Amino acid sequence: MAMRWTAPAPGPIEDWRFDEAEVAPPGPGEVTVRIRAAGVNPADAKHVATARPGAAYPMPIGYELSGEVTAVGPDAVGGSGALAVGDEVVAFRVQGAYATELTVPARDVFAKPAKLTHPEAANLLLAGTTAAEMIQVTRVGKGETVLLHAASGAVGVSLLQQARELGVRVIGTVGPDAELSAERVRRYGGIPVAYGDGLRERVEAAAEGAPVAAAWDAVGTDEAFEVSLALVAERDRIVTIVDPERAKTEGVLWIAGSRPESARFRDIARARVLELAASGALEVPIARTYPLADAVAAVRFVMDGHPGGKVALLP
Ligand SMILES: NC(=O)c1ccc[n+]([C@@H]2O[C@H](COP(=O)([O-])OP(=O)(O)OC[C@H]3O[C@@H](n4cnc5c(N)ncnc54)[C@H](OP(=O)(O)O)[C@@H]3O)[C@@H](O)[C@H]2O)c1
Repeated sequence: MAMRWTAPAPGPIEDWRFDEAEVAPPGPGEVTVRIRAAGVNPADAKHVATARPGAAYPMPIGYELSGEVTAVGPDAVGGSGALAVGDEVVAFRVQGAYATELTVPARDVFAKPAKLTHPEAANLLLAGTTAAEMIQVTRVGKGETVLLHAASGAVGVSLLQQARELGVRVIGTVGPDAELSAERVRRYGGIPVAYGDGLRERVEAAAEGAPVAAAWDAVGTDEAFEVSLALVAERDRIVTIVDPERAKTEGVLWIAGSRPESARFRDIARARVLELAASGALEVPIARTYPLADAVAAVRFVMDGHPGGKVALLP
């Protein structure tokens, strides 16, 4: 028997349940993983907050994990090759990572980068593949200057590092009194500017005359939209991951893992993101870890909007 978190119906995180559940033995093309850490993402709460088409309840919570293989089903081949009992792995995109053990499709299971701890590895791929897609859809390349809203967040920090690899200059917004956020942005190669009144002028000053070629929005505020629209000449080089309605009104891009084209891109991008982490070029700063039983407190901490790094649940 395993312990796992589920949402019994659409609603708030306080309604989630932590129960015992049978772990299905792996069928063809599946493996079972003993979970060492589960990654916590805002999507875990947002996706069950209201009813969504096609969603089945009770819904197991959590999209990414790190752990060890405990059983391998027939013909199960991992995303990065053969899998054996005892292998240290990460899995993304799976359903039900907030658990002690889980059976998942082997194609979504990859060798864990040795440089990352389990809490770091469990938080690599959702933010990392989202960041990779934001770079791809805005066609950003070497030498360009880009504006990044919410630069100190999970997606922001991954974007900063992936952009640094490409030779892209990033101006990233941080809280007005958030010296730790600013420090994190500098550490990963970005130029921090405080969000709030006067943001446009501060970004222009930081750009030092270079055009702002694109904007990556990981917060979705009015201010983020307005400043992106004022500074970036081409609307199809502005992407938001937060507000699809406003994106439609303004004629800018919106991407999300639930869109089939995004899912396809992100599935392929997993290998590259893992490679960057294995080489040491992509770190995952952890703010806090919580026992698995305290998942609701962990998600609440993330949903406050200023976690200062990623959060992992430890079974
Ligand atoms: N569509 C997709 O595929 C997709 C994928 C992943 C995430 N997301 C969404 O993207 C958002 C960010 O996710 P995350 O995991 O990076 O979150 P996170 O790690 O919790 O980071 C949140 C960030 O927002 C910043 N922030 C808070 N208030 C702000 C404001 N008024 N103006 C500008 N920045 C502000 C914070 O910066 P300070 O602490 O410096 O204030 C912090 O860096 C969430 O809404 C999430 O649901 C969407």
